[in-house]
Amino acid sequence: MSAKKAVQMSGIIAGETTIATVGKEGKGLTYRGYTIEDLAENSTFEEVAYLLLKGQLPLASERDAFCAELKSKRGLSAGMKTILENLPGSANPMDVLRTGCSALGCLEPEKSFDDQMSATMRLLACLPSMLAYWHHYSRDGRRIEVETDDASIATHFLHLLHGSPAGPTAARAMDVSLILYAEHEFNASTFASRITTSTMSDLHSAISTGIGTLRGPLHGGANEKAMQLIERFQDADDAERGVLEGLAKKEKFMGFGHPVYTENDPRSDIIKSWSLKLSQEAGDTRLWEISERVETVMMREKKMFPNLDFFSASAYHMMGIPTPMFTPIFVLSRVSGWASHVFEQRASGRIIRPSAEYVGPEERAYVRIEERG
Ligand code: COA
Repeated sequence: MSAKKAVQMSGIIAGETTIATVGKEGKGLTYRGYTIEDLAENSTFEEVAYLLLKGQLPLASERDAFCAELKSKRGLSAGMKTILENLPGSANPMDVLRTGCSALGCLEPEKSFDDQMSATMRLLACLPSMLAYWHHYSRDGRRIEVETDDASIATHFLHLLHGSPAGPTAARAMDVSLILYAEHEFNASTFASRITTSTMSDLHSAISTGIGTLRGPLHGGANEKAMQLIERFQDADDAERGVLEGLAKKEKFMGFGHPVYTENDPRSDIIKSWSLKLSQEAGDTRLWEISERVETVMMREKKMFPNLDFFSASAYHMMGIPTPMFTPIFVLSRVSGWASHVFEQRASGRIIRPSAEYVGPEERAYVRIEERG
């Protein structure tokens, strides 16, 4: 496609939403009218999920009931365990979640659209269990107990992963990370989920679509690529040299740039501060210093800022999370945003069917195969 003919693929208004604003005047993120800074400072992920799914922040009693329902839905059926046990350890954990979500749609289908909230709660509660169950079984054949007494999704997941309860800093860092990843308007995976939903398909199909779309390195997969980037360097000076060399070769640095934000990603400074806290607590700030130098060089040389994925990498690493789990954690959170969009799209009752600008051959005469020479 020629540059003149190039069709704009970002920044087109493709519909209305009441759920989030992203990058109004180049910056800022709000969920249902609340700034991400306020939510990350004052809320828990469960409160934010409630806000996204139901439209307002819960009362204390509503939050407690919401959390209790999530807690009661963490278990995995024997059928689900068998499916997870049959997925190889070499599988991409995103494929495991996509398969688990799809399988749940077979084992525990949404009975009708009236069932959408309950089915969403089930997904929010049991996707962390699926991920951790498969992780341990595929690594060393251990069938872990997934029904913990932990109060939140963050602590439940960290407990299952590490086999011991999370410390307070890691618990809150993970909780904040889930808040930051929960929702982002019409990003690629959410829009894909809305397209699936717009055909009046089921919740599990819509969420499986979202997981598949999130997997790529230009979207959710960027946090894993950011980890591979910072691991390349010995220290901050080495990072400066490496980034300059990479830029000279037109290398793309994952975790930088954004299709909507033009000034900054408001989530980056929040996760950056948690990454520092975790690093200082561990007495190991090397990766944080490397990350900060990469940020400085990218701003100085390219005027590019880090997006949420960049400092999430060092934060997750300091929480002891294996790199292939980074993008799946994004899923554990974004299910809340995707499902909110499923509800909204269903309520609109409209099918999404865009048109393309045709740039192929003019209409031409059909030549039978025996006459094609
Ligand atoms: N590192 C280095 N250069 C980058 C870059 C990056 N992360 N992102 C964009 N650029 C450069 C491009 O090479 C291009 O340079 P050119 O004009 O010399 O060819 C220019 O900036 C514009 O890039 P483009 O891909 O058109 O920007 P975009 O706004 O359409 O894309 C992203 C946005 C997010 C897809 C893109 O910045 C990217 O691929 N980032 C890395 C992946 C990532 O972090 N994704 C998570 C997003 S939340």
